[in-house]
Amino acid sequence: MTSQKASARAHTNIALIKYWGKKDQQLILPMNGSLSLTLDHFYTDTMVEFNSAFTEDTFYLNQKKFDATKVSPFLDLVRQLNPQAGYAHVISKNHVPNAAGLASSASAFAALALAASTAAGLKLSRRDLSRLARRGSGSATRSIYGGFVEWLPGTSDQDSYAVPIDEKVDWDIEMLAIIIDRKQKKVSSREGMQRVVATSPFYPAWVKSTNTDLIAAVKAVKQHNLKLLGQLAESNALRMHALNLSARPPFSYFEPQSLVAMNIIEKLRSQGVCCYYTLDAGPNVKVICSTAESRQIISALSAAFAPEQIIEAFPGPGAKLIEC
Ligand code: PMV
Repeated sequence: MTSQKASARAHTNIALIKYWGKKDQQLILPMNGSLSLTLDHFYTDTMVEFNSAFTEDTFYLNQKKFDATKVSPFLDLVRQLNPQAGYAHVISKNHVPNAAGLASSASAFAALALAASTAAGLKLSRRDLSRLARRGSGSATRSIYGGFVEWLPGTSDQDSYAVPIDEKVDWDIEMLAIIIDRKQKKVSSREGMQRVVATSPFYPAWVKSTNTDLIAAVKAVKQHNLKLLGQLAESNALRMHALNLSARPPFSYFEPQSLVAMNIIEKLRSQGVCCYYTLDAGPNVKVICSTAESRQIISALSAAFAPEQIIEAFPGPGAKLIEC
């Protein structure tokens, strides 16, 4: 009997310039490039063991057994790279304060890519890990790296991967996550993006404007320009959500409390505070701001949200191996 184990930790990331639409469903090739910030606070630890004595894949998440079909198609990609690898046991734990509805497929598939490829005896480069993580979930492509990360859309499996833009973020930027809803998404990101690509009359304009936003946002990161980066992120997020409203049938991830948070941020901004928001495929609002001003922002948000709904997160590291 041969057994090989590895464990990895990967952190989640929040897109400032969003991926919202695929040009290849199977390979998960995005319509446009995207830019994200990896966060320290939210991460997934995953242990993978390949063992020739196992007769099936098994998958545990947060000590609960799940259907292995959630991980088997991804493990099959690893088995294609090393046909000696047999069935695997996968044990994952999401470290997300208060089970916050931010548990993301990004940290999950980035951790699984590193743990499974290492357990299978493969020594993949970070570029190849990023390509592999992409096959689990698009946003996982970026969680291989820490700090600011760009996903180059590419045209094939070979050239669609992430690159670090600023891994050791040494300037004053953080995010406040406002937890509004912990329930499952009404429309999954897979379904939502497919619907907008197929039905929104504005989709071509989204791709065009996002490509322009991305170039400007990468420049803003390099210049440590929080204000410009925040402006670009907020307007890009609102355009993504406008696509959803313009799809057929239309859908929205906003909840009344999302609008409350957005209004508080807009009001603070009118008072001279540098803060901007972004939302993904759910109602939670993420605020981009500096640590110098975060106390003031948390205090304003406290008028509408309980302390446990506001989580402060800082730039975080890339995926790494940990003790089994
Ligand atoms: O990787 P997925 O399928 O969870 O899609 C992520 C989509 C957004 O979070 C809304 C945007 C992004 O770039 O992460």
